[in-house]
Amino acid sequence: MKHRTIIEPFRIKSVEPIGLSTEAERVEQLRTAHYNPFLLRSRDVIIDLMTDSGTSAMSAHQWAGVMEGDEAYAGSRSWERMEEAIQELTGMQHVLPTHQGRAAERIIYGHLGGPGKVFISNTHFDTTRANIEFTGATAIDIPIAEGRDPDLQHPFKGNIDLGALDALLKKHKGSVGAVILTVTNNSGGGQPVSMANAEGASALCRHHGAPFFLDCCRIAENSWFVQHREEGMEGLSYRQIAQRMFALADGAVMSAKKDALVNMGGFLTLRDEALAEACTNLLIITEGFTTYGGLSGRDMEAIAIGLEEVFDPYYLDYRIRSTTFLGEKLHEVGVPLMRPIGGHAVYIDSKRLYPHIPPHEYPGQALVCELYKLAGIRSVEIGSVMFGTYAPDGSLVPSAMELVRLAIPRRVYTQSHIEYVAETFEEIMRTRDRAKGFRIVKEPRFLRHFTAHFEPLP
Ligand code: F0G
Repeated sequence: MKHRTIIEPFRIKSVEPIGLSTEAERVEQLRTAHYNPFLLRSRDVIIDLMTDSGTSAMSAHQWAGVMEGDEAYAGSRSWERMEEAIQELTGMQHVLPTHQGRAAERIIYGHLGGPGKVFISNTHFDTTRANIEFTGATAIDIPIAEGRDPDLQHPFKGNIDLGALDALLKKHKGSVGAVILTVTNNSGGGQPVSMANAEGASALCRHHGAPFFLDCCRIAENSWFVQHREEGMEGLSYRQIAQRMFALADGAVMSAKKDALVNMGGFLTLRDEALAEACTNLLIITEGFTTYGGLSGRDMEAIAIGLEEVFDPYYLDYRIRSTTFLGEKLHEVGVPLMRPIGGHAVYIDSKRLYPHIPPHEYPGQALVCELYKLAGIRSVEIGSVMFGTYAPDGSLVPSAMELVRLAIPRRVYTQSHIEYVAETFEEIMRTRDRAKGFRIVKEPRFLRHFTAHFEPLP
């Protein structure tokens, strides 16, 4: 029998209580946090969908690994396990352990970057872009046109535009720092990248002599989509698909906080020995010695195990199907979404949900606050609060889209938690006409979404 019901492929052995609250209490918490979810205390949140990064539940096997962690400064056994796991998966010889993804980005893009250099990606994640721009280099995003349309159905909306890539590689010949394929494409809605697209990008890079990198923090989730949606890939295992994609690249950067199923960690992996040597110098200066970098032995142990577990077909089926489950439920009640649903998150189009709230009154922030008030759900605005800028006359230059992200932590919430989220959206839809916009009353110069204060408009 083929079941409709998606069951979590694990039993719960240890539980973390959720502090429930009343709507009146949450109204107060929201006011205290200046209507910014980043300023809420975790203990006041019921379902935390702020990020899927570092929020995974580790398995019993990983926790056992934590006890096995070898904390030696040099040549730790846990390092050997992690290095071997990464070499086996990526086929790359040189592994540099870092405390999280952005530390690996700083090392490699710090080395390859600099004034006059150009980096090209399907979409640079914000820390990637920041690390590149910090060196004085330029970061250019070229997702396929279909990826920019939230409504359009396409199996691989995370793809890079190969025509534009070819043109840019010609135009900037000799000054391309790297081409970076982000799989899945987080900023583009958690959308997958096809193997054919990765092959195309890799071939163009070879042809024009540019380094080709993967930002592979959700590579296992991407492999699920490739196997299920791309012709000729159905016979390969998820791990084989990932290995085939790694084989196309010169190096990869990973935030282990995603598909390595751990709470902290990352790495950089490279084929070229001279490049690895240069990066190792930076690793030692800024992270730590080569056999631990930014990590404890116990972290490395948990990463080695997580990189195995994440390719379990039953886990990946549950993972992708449960994210889709939430997306489909919201679609059924008429919530405007980015579709198809990506791997790690559901993205809501708040511009269409609240057409009466203009971008300069932040419709995404309005939804984020409603979700918290009604149900204690924490989410993140990815729109004009995060990316908006000001014109010289002080008016807002809005972001292209007004999205709200519901990111799903791995192995953390059960189906009833997800149903609770879906039910909340029924109320959001019933009361959508009454939602009010916000204004910013205090903001820092950079990355304002983290600390800005808001006030509801009357
Ligand atoms: N690359 C991608 C595609 C990411 O999604 C992230 C983090 C990073 C790099 C940086 O990794 O956080 O370990 O330094 N994304 C998190 C998120 C923060 O919520 O999407 P990090």
